Amino acid sequence: MDHFLYRDGALYAEDVPVAEIAAAVGTPFYVYSTATLVRHFRLFDEALEGMDHLVCYAMKAASNQAILKTLAAEGAGMDVVSGGEYRRARAAGVPGDRIVFSGVGKTAEEIRTALEGGIRQFNVESEPEMEVLSAVASQMGKTAPITIRVNPDVDAKTHAKIATGKSENKFGIPISRAREVYAMAAALPGIEVIGIDVHIGSQLTELEPFELAYQKVAELTETLRADGHDIRRLDLGGGLGIPYARSNEAPPLPVDYGALIKRTVGHLGCEIEIEPGRLIVGNAGILVSEVIYVKSGEGRDFLILDGAMNDLIRPAMYEAYHDIIPVIEPAPAAEQAPFDIVGPVCETGDTFARQRMMPPLSAGDLVAFRSAGAYGAVMASEYNSRPLVPEVLVNGDQFAVIRPRPTFDEMINRDTIPEWL
Ligand code: LLP
Repeated sequence: MDHFLYRDGALYAEDVPVAEIAAAVGTPFYVYSTATLVRHFRLFDEALEGMDHLVCYAMKAASNQAILKTLAAEGAGMDVVSGGEYRRARAAGVPGDRIVFSGVGKTAEEIRTALEGGIRQFNVESEPEMEVLSAVASQMGKTAPITIRVNPDVDAKTHAKIATGKSENKFGIPISRAREVYAMAAALPGIEVIGIDVHIGSQLTELEPFELAYQKVAELTETLRADGHDIRRLDLGGGLGIPYARSNEAPPLPVDYGALIKRTVGHLGCEIEIEPGRLIVGNAGILVSEVIYVKSGEGRDFLILDGAMNDLIRPAMYEAYHDIIPVIEPAPAAEQAPFDIVGPVCETGDTFARQRMMPPLSAGDLVAFRSAGAYGAVMASEYNSRPLVPEVLVNGDQFAVIRPRPTFDEMINRDTIPEWL
């Protein structure tokens, strides 16, 4: 459920007409709904009720300061994967003890930043990383709390580019070698092993892969405890999917996911962390764009929008489906026709949808890409020298630009000219 609904024939973001934002900000732009963000965070928080837990929002999904502040005010922790994300989380007022640091390639510099600023735990992904962490922490006279990310060799049944839990993926240490690596960790100075971390992929639309992975984590917890490790925290990662095509998709709900967590690891008495990103922000954001031209091609018609692959790369990158709806509600009897929906960028990859049935649209009409809040604005670029897409946040009947569109001068003047030119 989200808060982007038609009212009296026009699309609203909560209580604000989307067309009003478009008139103020220009297109394309992202707009997020505070009520949806908060609602989705609470669904996870409530799903884990009764367990000692922290929901750490995977801020890679959307990392605007205003979004982070909205979630932090709800008590969210943050899952960060770079020094930049760590700084963003701190800048939004998130205390270090609510930040977990994930990622396969943390540099010594990033580790130092997090140790200086305060960190809840590092999710370590390899032996060499563990050695660097141990050395940096020892040098600073600190003890870094760690979990070790295990790779459970489970098929997440999602797009290959976002599956992370199979043995051939770069993530985590093979679960078969876990005992050895935990023994190594216990012997290193500057680190303290407190738990286990797992994350098997993103946009999972079934619970079964989670179940398999969490069962393996439960078994491993008991094995490692028997080996003498004080395993007291489990970070179970993110990955719960969202419905992209409203008409025919119904992925599991956070409450079912919570019940699964209780069933698989609840008996261990561990503190539980989860790292959802997409489900919190995905359906809390839309991308609004204007039709520039309706073009007739050879055997097909094109809707050419002012938004492009540089603004929303998911269709080009993952063959992702996004519902695209007119901002003015079509009449119930409006006849639909197939269109290829494309952006102005000079490559065929800049295609949002092929042969999508759409109601009649003309140049100047606005359309909205639904479910675009996660991995939308954060993956945007200025390819084709198109200024970075702006972001807007709605809260009830108010809206605010939370990242303005750069001017052309700002974009161009970021470049610097060598003295020989
Ligand atoms: N934790 C870790 C360690 C992760 O790598 C990820 C996502 C998450 C949590 C959050 O997963 P979520 O709840 O959002 O599924 N750009 C891609 C998705 C990449 C996901 C990367 N890792 C897309 O647009 O589909």
